[in-house]
Amino acid sequence: MESRLKFIEVKGDHPKTTFCQAVDEGLSAAPKSLPTLYLYDHRGSELFEEITCLPEYYPTRTEQSILERVSSEIVEAVGGDLMIVEFGSGSSTKTRLLLSAALDRQRSLPYVPIDISTEFLKQTSLTLLRDFDRLTIQAMSAEYFDAIAAMPEHSGPRLMLFLGSNIGNLTHEEATSFLAQVRSQMKPKDRILIGIDLVKERTILEDAYNDRRGVTAEFNLNLLRRINRELDGNFDLSGFYHSAPYDEREQRIEMRLFSLSRQIVDIDGTGGVYSFTPGEFIHTEWSHKYTLDSFRRLCRPAGLELDATWRDERDWFAMILLRPDAP
Ligand code: AVI
Repeated sequence: MESRLKFIEVKGDHPKTTFCQAVDEGLSAAPKSLPTLYLYDHRGSELFEEITCLPEYYPTRTEQSILERVSSEIVEAVGGDLMIVEFGSGSSTKTRLLLSAALDRQRSLPYVPIDISTEFLKQTSLTLLRDFDRLTIQAMSAEYFDAIAAMPEHSGPRLMLFLGSNIGNLTHEEATSFLAQVRSQMKPKDRILIGIDLVKERTILEDAYNDRRGVTAEFNLNLLRRINRELDGNFDLSGFYHSAPYDEREQRIEMRLFSLSRQIVDIDGTGGVYSFTPGEFIHTEWSHKYTLDSFRRLCRPAGLELDATWRDERDWFAMILLRPDAP
């Protein structure tokens, strides 16, 4: 099985902001913020997996239901001798549907999962290899932007997946820039498949990010726990609470950690002291929601056109197949 697995760690060539720098910069800014990426340490990735099973968190289930219905159609639309590349692969649960559909049409399948959580990536790859004996995996531990240039070549079409509305966690500028960079590596027959969460009623959106069991709150607060552990901070977690309101004008959920009182936090690792007023928040994540038109507007400047779309019966979530525009 090991012979079917190659593991590559991709370090970008641009100077990286370290966790320490990012925390110091973010907590010194007004309003305070922390980069979303750091929510996903091992515990954060586990908690996110738990979120995907919550009754209120409809995106994963809805995307899964679309893929159950149309995976074969998608694979057929892209063509034979596929390679599947997945940005932000996580547990690859939904991807299994596309892997199966592709393996129904071809003898073997190269799969390239890309994720920043190395441990998660290794575990998932081994499980997939056990379950699909005609699969080969080149796993890449990398941030999205660094992974693009390192994507392996393939003689047939490459289907690049960006599932779970992961794109929604990027700003519109970052999303277009990411898509443009992927586009710059695409051959005419390559396609991108993106799952996007659609604009809908406020209560449905807010319930999904403020669940009753408090798993999303735990996921958000875990970032403070990570700072305490890795940077020797003294955040008192009971002094902060999670809230994720929907901003209708910006069409996005804004995930925040609010300070319950006036307090001071010391972080030895950054050498900084950060003061909080009651009600002051740390921004930790945006989760953008789209209409087909607003999404088309992100893709056009990146040189990508909508090739096909599939939606669920409630119009809550959409799978979009993108092709490179004519040069
Ligand atoms: C990973 N990402 C698409 C999730 C989302 O819905 O924006 C992250 C998440 N944050 C809170 N709940 C889920």
